[in-house]
Amino acid sequence: MTDKPPTPDDGLQEEFNRWAAAGEGEKMERHHRVITEKTIRLMDLGPGERVLDLGCGSGWATRLLARLVGEGPEGFGQVVGLDLSDEMIRQARAASKDFDNILYVWGSAQQIPWEENFFDKVLSVESFYYYPDQDRALSELFRVMAPQGRLFILINLYQDNPYSLEWVDKLKVPVHVRSEAEYVELLRKHAFAKVQACRIPDDTPTPDNYQTTSFRSLDDLRAFKRIGALLLAGSKPDLRNPAPGYTIY
Ligand SMILES: C[S@@+](CC[C@H](N)C(=O)[O-])C[C@H]1O[C@@H](n2cnc3c(N)ncnc32)[C@H](O)[C@@H]1O
Repeated sequence: MTDKPPTPDDGLQEEFNRWAAAGEGEKMERHHRVITEKTIRLMDLGPGERVLDLGCGSGWATRLLARLVGEGPEGFGQVVGLDLSDEMIRQARAASKDFDNILYVWGSAQQIPWEENFFDKVLSVESFYYYPDQDRALSELFRVMAPQGRLFILINLYQDNPYSLEWVDKLKVPVHVRSEAEYVELLRKHAFAKVQACRIPDDTPTPDNYQTTSFRSLDDLRAFKRIGALLLAGSKPDLRNPAPGYTIY
């Protein structure tokens, strides 16, 4: 019997386990919180909804989502946090003991371990550009989303924010650097409807004594935050209903 050859996901898992062990989960919360909260407001979540947090890391955003969909007149909402790093999942579970509507699952965006037509909303924060096969991840998202479900992909690394390109070389794993227009086309190719892209700036001030190793200067960091993250949104069409004027006999 031969050993299975390593997959691109194996390299990502190792790298993000290192991040988790180095306490990067908490740091990411500090860096991504403002843009994520703005995005969550746009998600218009309500009690009873089923939400996926794809690439959930240490689970801080999963917990924000869980508070918004919890028990209410519409029922009892649930949030699934999915991540490729088992160490991130372990940390997320440890920090979410008070929540009874969160389930953390270790798995890959390339093969989402969930049934089809399930999630009303999907959030993915700063994770999508790492997926080796983004086409496959989008097919999987389309499969697990409910008809009329809404997808929200938030990324800080994209071609149209030139300052984001300053830290690509520091990453130890391969990433995709696409433009907004390319991402919009990619989502449309996967049959997502109402595809939209917008910018989510981080308007928190950067103090003059802030230390950055990711950017060439504080002015570059400020410009990066001003341009903002790219938010891609789309809907899964309701394939159960025939188009207007079209009757199935
Ligand atoms: C930069 S971190 C962001 C984590 C979290 N969303 C946050 O904002 O704090 C990227 C996350 O994506 C996860 N990830 C990378 N590739 C993945 C894949 N193929 N499937 C699922 N998760 C993946 C990593 O393990 C990591 O936790």
